[in-house]
Amino acid sequence: MTQVLRPHDASGRVTLRNLALADAPFILELLNDPDFIARIADRQVRSLEDAERYLTNGPLAMYNELGFGLWCTELRTTGTPIGICGLLKRDWLEDVDIGFALLPEFRGRGYAREAALLALARGRDMHGLSRIAAIVQRGNDPSERLLAALGFAFEKMVQAAPGGPELQLFATR
Ligand SMILES: CC(C)(COP(=O)(O)OP(=O)(O)OC[C@H]1O[C@@H](n2cnc3c(N)ncnc32)[C@H](O)[C@@H]1OP(=O)(O)O)[C@@H](O)C(=O)NCCC(=O)NCCS
Repeated sequence: MTQVLRPHDASGRVTLRNLALADAPFILELLNDPDFIARIADRQVRSLEDAERYLTNGPLAMYNELGFGLWCTELRTTGTPIGICGLLKRDWLEDVDIGFALLPEFRGRGYAREAALLALARGRDMHGLSRIAAIVQRGNDPSERLLAALGFAFEKMVQAAPGGPELQLFATR
């Protein structure tokens, strides 16, 4: 049986901070990682200008509107950006959902778990969210292992748009 992680299991190796326009080079790299494109989406971010536009219209707009969004995951000791993790409100989904992605060289060390625990705690404690969802393509095993460790359970298949690909909806219990 999977042991469910709790916020105090985050050993403090990573922190979350708001993204800023100065993160454009890091975002350009992350959004062009082949796994990001295959398992999340191709956001068509190909230049620093595209990355700034993505930041402005995506995470920064959501911070302004809702007070949360995708945050930058950093290593606590060095401040190195290693990925993004945070909470999203999508037009087509009733729930707020958690999103996460790490640069390939930082995977397999438990950093995404720590970041996700921090994001879930913020959702619960700062934004009063009693339920948080996650949407995952079929076959994204690392994400499913992570969600299981966080105590998420599969609920149903959903579609962002009629006729679009089916995605798995998980949610906190
Ligand atoms: C999804 C994603 C963030 C998961 O990253 P990850 O590094 O595998 O996840 P975790 O931080 O939970 O690390 C867990 C792994 O680290 C290992 N690990 C090593 N040291 C660890 C530690 N101190 N604590 C916990 N786990 C540790 C675990 O055994 C586990 O390995 P396993 O998956 O082979 O069983 C990453 O695969 C990714 O960026 N994918 C592309 C984008 C994506 O798919 N995003 C999600 C869309 S829904």
